[in-house]
Amino acid sequence: MVQLSSVRESNVSLASTTSGQIALFVGATSGIAYHTLTEFARNSNQPKVYVVGRGEAKLSKVIGELEGINPQGSYTSINSEISLLKNVDTACEELKRKEKGLDLLVMCPGYLKLSRVGMYFPGNSIAPTKPGKVKDWKDLTPNPADNADGLEDTISLRYYVRMRFIQNLLPLLTSRPSSRIVSIHGAGREGRLNENDLELKYTYSFLNASMYTCTMNTLALAELASSHPSISCIHVFPGVIITPSFDKFAEDWYFPLRFLFMQLVLPFAKLFTVSLPECGQRQLFYATSAKYPPAGVRDPPGGGVALPKGVEVAKGADSKEGSGCYLLNWDGETIGDENLLEEYRKKEMGKKIWEHTQEVFDRVVGKS
Ligand SMILES: NC(=O)c1ccc[n+]([C@@H]2O[C@H](COP(=O)([O-])OP(=O)(O)OC[C@H]3O[C@@H](n4cnc5c(N)ncnc54)[C@H](OP(=O)(O)O)[C@@H]3O)[C@@H](O)[C@H]2O)c1
Repeated sequence: MVQLSSVRESNVSLASTTSGQIALFVGATSGIAYHTLTEFARNSNQPKVYVVGRGEAKLSKVIGELEGINPQGSYTSINSEISLLKNVDTACEELKRKEKGLDLLVMCPGYLKLSRVGMYFPGNSIAPTKPGKVKDWKDLTPNPADNADGLEDTISLRYYVRMRFIQNLLPLLTSRPSSRIVSIHGAGREGRLNENDLELKYTYSFLNASMYTCTMNTLALAELASSHPSISCIHVFPGVIITPSFDKFAEDWYFPLRFLFMQLVLPFAKLFTVSLPECGQRQLFYATSAKYPPAGVRDPPGGGVALPKGVEVAKGADSKEGSGCYLLNWDGETIGDENLLEEYRKKEMGKKIWEHTQEVFDRVVGKS
């Protein structure tokens, strides 16, 4: 476990290690990414920060807070409803008009939803009788529970949206001698994928949606890091963190159940979970420390803030030290089923996942 004291020691050294870093935060108007963002602003020297969110009021509030935390920084909001891929493109275009490089991309958009209503809804004459049997997407009657992209919303926010940001911003990330991508989701929660139903059109469940998006984040980031040695790609499981996402989760519940959840379960759970401020400090450490360097750049400043005493360079997803893609548990240590990841490496699943992702992008937003 990386001690919180080491995390804090590293974070306060950020301002003397780098200056004028350009960072983009997605899904940072509340919760985990918001606390990571405020820690980034607090500890950076003249940062240039872009925050993507939906709604001017919410964004103005966040920008005002950042200006209060570090008046030497520059903060810009990008107002976009990024659950649709074309809006991700618009947001990225806005950034590209202003910047030629990007040092850090932090992403944590998403929300919790128990069921995908209407999966086998009446009237979908071609709803598969055998889950997992894939039909051509063009033959499908759109599922009313899917968003306008034809994707399940929570899956898209946890995976496709994030990969679209990465793909669009790759030229900016690679224009730097070193850069970093942090996707805060569910490292270590990987499992076996049905290659015929990666979008979970037929085999959706709450648990599958979580496991698939965790596995696909890991595989896509590992593939990306192996082909871009100047980028450190980090997938984090932040722990169970009590954020506004739980309030929204229980919003539609039957009142007594909601009351029990909000008044008893959550306060009790809070006793055993990492607090949001600590979580934000830890995410900043993952986003900046030399413990998680890109494969091709080891030393500070490109490799990150110098290691505090007693902290070592982490093993990557391929079990090799400092290899550029890191799967992190809430405490900053590496996590993951080495056998499964090795099996997937042999099968070149990372490439397959990127190919599938590109196919979805081509289908939804057209070939670019
Ligand atoms: N909390 C946990 O225990 C936990 C554990 C593991 C992983 N995670 C990851 O964290 C994500 C949730 O973050 P959080 O726990 O910090 O919750 P949160 O406080 O609700 O923050 C979620 C962020 O995502 C944005 N977002 C939600 N739905 C959106 C949509 N349809 N379109 C655009 N943006 C949207 C929110 O924007 P608005 O403010 O506009 O709603 C907010 O900025 C999950 O999806 C998962 O990937 C959380």
